[in-house]
Amino acid sequence: MSLLLTGIAELTTNDPARGDGHAAPGDALLGIVRDAALVVSGPGPGAEVEWVGPASEAPAADERRDLGGRAVIPGFVDSHTHLVFAGDRSAEFAARMTGTPYDGGGIAVSVAATRAASDDELRALVAARVAEMRAQGTTTVEIKSGYGLTLEDELRSLRIAREFTPHTTFLGAHVVPREFATDRAAYVDLVTGPMLDAVVADGPTALAESIDVFCEPHSAHAFDGDEARTILEAGRAAGLSLRVHGNQLGHGPGVRLACELGARSVDHCTFLDGADVEALAAARGTTVATLLPGVEFSTRSPYPDARALIDAGVDVALASDCNPGTCYSSSIPFAIALAVREMGMTPAEALHAATAVSARSLGLDRRIAPGQPAELAVLDAPSHLHLAYRAGVPIVRALEL
Ligand code: NIG
Ligand code: FE
Repeated sequence: MSLLLTGIAELTTNDPARGDGHAAPGDALLGIVRDAALVVSGPGPGAEVEWVGPASEAPAADERRDLGGRAVIPGFVDSHTHLVFAGDRSAEFAARMTGTPYDGGGIAVSVAATRAASDDELRALVAARVAEMRAQGTTTVEIKSGYGLTLEDELRSLRIAREFTPHTTFLGAHVVPREFATDRAAYVDLVTGPMLDAVVADGPTALAESIDVFCEPHSAHAFDGDEARTILEAGRAAGLSLRVHGNQLGHGPGVRLACELGARSVDHCTFLDGADVEALAAARGTTVATLLPGVEFSTRSPYPDARALIDAGVDVALASDCNPGTCYSSSIPFAIALAVREMGMTPAEALHAATAVSARSLGLDRRIAPGQPAELAVLDAPSHLHLAYRAGVPIVRALEL
């Protein structure tokens, strides 16, 4: 079976080999084809792209669907989320809006609620959040553990996350849990020893693809550069790829450590100095800087200068960081709007960052091209410019085939 999709006013392929004459800024970066058509195998989940091109050259197919002049884009790849949690921290958000700073202490509230939840409760919470994301155009999601912080609760979080995505990340090193507050070294030993051994017991990527650490000397709860190095090196030796929460609350060693160790991604990058930008530019092709503007919004922090990073040659991705503390928004369109309005990205760069570059940080290729999975999103609008232009309006959703 094959399905022909027509009536596509603008197709973003992310394929630099495409593009219909580069009529507008961003066309080349996004590989835009106007008045396009697509043939996919299926219909049904697991469909693949079979043909891409101008509608005037479209081949015949078994079925046909007219999208009525809408724009089609690659589904968003949300490469940084913490979806496995229970409990409510909305009061902490409200307090921040009247001046209480974020310091990571609230993570303990989510840890207590998550430990107390049943498997079915957690599963239902994650399912609702993933569905909410699809309804806003996200078709691929990375999910971290990190609200269990015991061996059993971290494994349980990863198992539940794995029911929804292959892109799972072990974040036992989210914070030092209260019961280890007087013996941090013992907790680092637990994370790099018994917890990590259990995560990889059935093979290096059986339960988690990556390991992550909240490297943040400005939080008493998180890990300093030496602790983060120990954790990341142990994860790498166990066969996991590396991700880092770095330079979120102030300047610190996270970004340079991530670049030095060849991490796939260093995330937040809110406080950078010139040496960090140089390290990120030199790590281009290996380490992506994943910006999370929903966090700056929800913590009243300054936005990182994405324009300067891109101009310096850094690979910049965008993700939501959906989590109960620093950003309980699963909306990639919201992140794109903030990136364009507050961080100096063009609409095309922001869309590319939330698809092609975030995908690369997960080892994926997010082009719309023959042989690729048909992970698509559709806009109730004729062009990708409307993602930021119509901020707050629900115009984009995953295209169900
Ligand atoms: O990415 N920075 C560390 N972790 C999360 C916040 C977690 C929380 O506050 O619950 C983040 O911002
Ligand atoms: Fe995070």
